[in-house]
Amino acid sequence: MRQSSLVVVANRLPVDDSVAPDGACEWRRSPGGLVSALHPLLQHTPATWVGWAGGTGPAPALPDIDGVRMRGVALTRDDVRDHYEGFSNSTLWPLYHDAVEQPVYHRRWWEAYQRVNQRFAEAAAEAAEPEAVVWVQDYHLQLVPGLLRAIRPDLRIGFFLHVPFPPPELFMQLPRRAELLLGMLGADLVGFQRAQAAHNFAQLAARVLQLPATDRRIAVDDRVVRIGAFPVSIDTAEMAALAQREDVVRRAARIRTDLGDPQHVILSVDRMDYTKGIEQRLKAYSELIATGHVKVRDTVLVQVAVPSRERVEQYQILRERVEREVGRINGEFGRVGEPAIHYLTQPFDRSELAALYRAADIMAVTPLRDGMNLVAKEYVAARVDGGGGLLLSEFAGAAAELEQAFLVNPHDLEGLKLALMHALQATPADLAARMTAMREHLRVHDIHAWARSYLTALDGSGRLAARFTPA
Ligand code: ADP
Ligand code: G6P
Repeated sequence: MRQSSLVVVANRLPVDDSVAPDGACEWRRSPGGLVSALHPLLQHTPATWVGWAGGTGPAPALPDIDGVRMRGVALTRDDVRDHYEGFSNSTLWPLYHDAVEQPVYHRRWWEAYQRVNQRFAEAAAEAAEPEAVVWVQDYHLQLVPGLLRAIRPDLRIGFFLHVPFPPPELFMQLPRRAELLLGMLGADLVGFQRAQAAHNFAQLAARVLQLPATDRRIAVDDRVVRIGAFPVSIDTAEMAALAQREDVVRRAARIRTDLGDPQHVILSVDRMDYTKGIEQRLKAYSELIATGHVKVRDTVLVQVAVPSRERVEQYQILRERVEREVGRINGEFGRVGEPAIHYLTQPFDRSELAALYRAADIMAVTPLRDGMNLVAKEYVAARVDGGGGLLLSEFAGAAAELEQAFLVNPHDLEGLKLALMHALQATPADLAARMTAMREHLRVHDIHAWARSYLTALDGSGRLAARFTPA
């Protein structure tokens, strides 16, 4: 087994073995923020990515992709049901997102979570050179830092949580809260999207584990674990370059023509997830049509909602409800050849997404809770023309940075309608001033800056960051 000096461990690999039956793998980004963030970062770096390829049974042998070694972790059908669909996505995911859906607790799921975390820790230990850096990602793998440290105390271990870390009142519900905290504390550095999350974590370490903790440091045995906020970002330059490509510009114009050249195109792009506020958005939009504030011929909504976690009941129910509502709105307000909502569930490649972003006058990103939301950042990066308006939920991590967006509380239906109207009626000068400020922020705070700041904090010097990110 070849070993690497940098090992990234994430539940999901950026490739999906189901789309490469002949073994001819390409980077095919699965929709989701984690893969979108790490993919541009790791390209052409000497690293190994340890993760799950999306199927069951033995791990497929995957070729190196763009210089990155892919190391698959095998999951059985029971592992997928109890670790991925169960503890990760029916217990932790809803709990960490303000319990907008009811978290479910089952003891059997916890056993699977431990077992699968152990398997990931062993795979990471095998893939890591002596004294390598191992960077563990996200809520599926919170026990890995502690398990890995037990096997390989020589390693430098980082952990980053892409989703929100909840306030103590919510986290305290978890039957295995102490074990989860201790698992994360196996890392040398625990990173979050927001300072509030680091604060929540420190409070819990003090309360549940009686550890001396500040918002920057927690003492565990004879070690000091550092904690902090590192807001994740995108490859701003890559998205900007894509959005400037001639074929993308032509495609964006074509999209507008195909939509009937309306005055306003509103776009939303989400994984089909109940945290994304899709139903609230559809309700606000249909009420604006019903009251005549929005006219279907002048304004169209394009809702891209790629199915996600399709075997989890809450996701199945959401999809049914969204599709029923889209059907109702189109039935009630559309005309032949003029639907009120263009509803698409397909995964798109990056250039089609860039064209959609360029075609949209208003991008509506209104999650009920979101760790960051990279779609909002991608839209801003794609607006190389300085046009377009971003309607953004206050409850997305991105709102802390993209302050010039039209910020909105998506739980407040009237507020949502007002903010959408405000964005639709904004002057080009107002839109341009907002977009310019947001673009400038993302030019500096891109994915490479994120990696530099995290890796510098992890090794205490610039050496690691210099090895893995461009200057
Ligand atoms: P989450 O991580 O919760 O899915 P983010 O907004 O942070 O939310 O990240 C979503 C990522 O998935 C973005 O990079 C976006 O471009 C990508 N994505 C969303 N929908 C699609 C789609 N239909 N096809 C391809 N990529 C998509
Ligand atoms: C979010 C999570 C990621 C996850 C992604 C897609 O971004 O933070 O860890 O990979 O959603 O979800 P999936 O369940 O398809 O991996």
